[in-house]
Amino acid sequence: MERTHGCGELTTQDVGQDVVLFGWVHRRRDHGGLIFIDLRDRSGVVQVVSSPEIDRTAFDVIETVKSEYVVRVEGTVRKRPPGSENPSLKTGEIEVMAKRSSILNPSKTPPFSICEDDEVDEEMRLKYRYLDLRRPFMRDLLVLRHRVCKAIRDYFDRNGFLEIETPMLTRSTPEGARDFLVPSRLNPGRFYALPQSPQLFKQILMVAGFDRYFQIVRCFRDEDLRADRQPEFTQIDVEMSFVDAEDVMSVTEGMVSYVFEQTMGVELQIPFPRLTWHEAMRRFGTDKPDTRFGMEIVDVSDVFRGTGLAVFAKALEKNGIVAGITVKAAASASRKELDTMTRKAISYGLGGLAWIVREDGGIRSPVAKHLSEKEVEGVIRRCHLDPGDILLLAAGDERRVLTALGALRLDIKRGEFGRFGEVEAGIDGRDSDSRRDAEGTSDADGNKWNFVWVTEFPLLEYSDEEKRWVSMHHPFTSPVEGDLDLLDTNPGAVRARAYDLVLNGVELGGGSIRIHLRSVQERVFRALGLSMDECREKFGFLLDAFEYGTPPHGGIALGLDRLLMLMSGSSSIRDVIAFPKTSSGSCLMTGAPGTVSDEQLRDLGLSPKAFAQARSTRSK
Ligand code: AMO
Repeated sequence: MERTHGCGELTTQDVGQDVVLFGWVHRRRDHGGLIFIDLRDRSGVVQVVSSPEIDRTAFDVIETVKSEYVVRVEGTVRKRPPGSENPSLKTGEIEVMAKRSSILNPSKTPPFSICEDDEVDEEMRLKYRYLDLRRPFMRDLLVLRHRVCKAIRDYFDRNGFLEIETPMLTRSTPEGARDFLVPSRLNPGRFYALPQSPQLFKQILMVAGFDRYFQIVRCFRDEDLRADRQPEFTQIDVEMSFVDAEDVMSVTEGMVSYVFEQTMGVELQIPFPRLTWHEAMRRFGTDKPDTRFGMEIVDVSDVFRGTGLAVFAKALEKNGIVAGITVKAAASASRKELDTMTRKAISYGLGGLAWIVREDGGIRSPVAKHLSEKEVEGVIRRCHLDPGDILLLAAGDERRVLTALGALRLDIKRGEFGRFGEVEAGIDGRDSDSRRDAEGTSDADGNKWNFVWVTEFPLLEYSDEEKRWVSMHHPFTSPVEGDLDLLDTNPGAVRARAYDLVLNGVELGGGSIRIHLRSVQERVFRALGLSMDECREKFGFLLDAFEYGTPPHGGIALGLDRLLMLMSGSSSIRDVIAFPKTSSGSCLMTGAPGTVSDEQLRDLGLSPKAFAQARSTRSK
């Protein structure tokens, strides 16, 4: 190859060598008879220096180049003169004296700067993604993605897993979002669905005897998009036979810690702490708790039994709860800030928010006159309320109070209401459970990596919309064996052998031990209100397969994009995907989704008229 080095690879060891470089003009500085260009390729940037004294013809070419021109430079590496080194650049001790150069392709002026890390409007970035991807920080993210995938494959390969591909054109899979459908030309009126996950196929692979499967696989879900959701995303999908939940969790911990160690040099503490779903809800008001900080929810219902405070008394009468969170050193919060917080609490479904400020001599609170001395003492003790702290109290239906306080806890920590919530109760001030769960890993840069497993999810939850019980994960999740009989009497109390992996408050993945006995599967379908005919129509092939010696099995899937988003500290998964979609599901670069010709529609047995109508309704 004519190219001898990548721009970013040159070091002082290459001083004196003749090199041939290809790349883009990152920056150009003209000092009259001396021109510097920073030449960039995937490997990095190196300074090229050109003057008529070094070579006149090379100088004549370099004089005409502009940002993002593609050039070839031939020259000799030399040490930079003392005082002109650039310590922030990997190649900052050397430069290349240009002896020959040519322009391979000019470039229009880019709509935004490639060489500055400026904030650029995201629409612009997505429209000109090929330019955005030239920016060093985006290149680094894609390099990280590659290295993470490689580490995942190495880990699974070493542990006896096989990567097996599953179809993209398939039938509807049971993850609960809407399907993307693909009409079949050869079967008019019929549709494939793009897989929401390879769930059924990986279970079939277990029936087929491939007892350790994994796949880095694209999945598709037609759902409303958020910063951590894309219509197509990638899962690290795993399934294993003859295992229990602990085995799957331990393989996952091994994989994640291997990836962190290989790609970031961070040694994670394993095993990760485990919380049951009930405990997570009780202490953090969510099934994806951020355990990097305390401010945990404390149930103080017993302190207020028989209280004179009407809203609390009423909530308790109706079997509700009173609970609170303590915000440390927040007494300076203004009335306005507390009012904003109360409005937010109301938007989360609470009737209101009561607050108590502990001062040196006593308390300050709008509800003070309704509280007995015993109640005040009780909450101060229970909630570790020190002088200068604020206690926020809410009363009402248990789930509503917990989820609202859980959401407020995150808002406060994010600083949404003001600069408080930043002071942390020392970890030692927590009880022993909290201390154990807060044991994450802190790396050399001060980042915290708090993984936590959430286990024992309810198998089913009641859907007010559908007026029936629905699966909290999917219908192939195994119930805890001892809870099986509750399916008929108290479906909401049946626990699932399911587990979610949470990192810093983001759901990274989830999985379960599956049902492998047809009789149990049928009982679960019945509890879900699905008729056997419906199940046969949807999952008949799996039920048939279950009759040919299905091993006990279980697995998990982690969101690769979410993992990368957290590892890289990005605020959106769009940054770790080369060609992502916008929040309305379109690709600003290609213009997808696009329209198709009437002829194509007719080929597929679809009515052009119906599509024209849909388009015109949409544009109104
Ligand atoms: P689940 O539906 O929980 O489980 O998905 C697993 C993980 O995939 C990621 N994820 C997404 N990432 C980006 N955009 C999306 N729209 C999106 N949807 C999901 C999340 C999530 O935790 N078959 C089961 C797994 C199993 O039981 O083995 C499944 O798909 O990080």
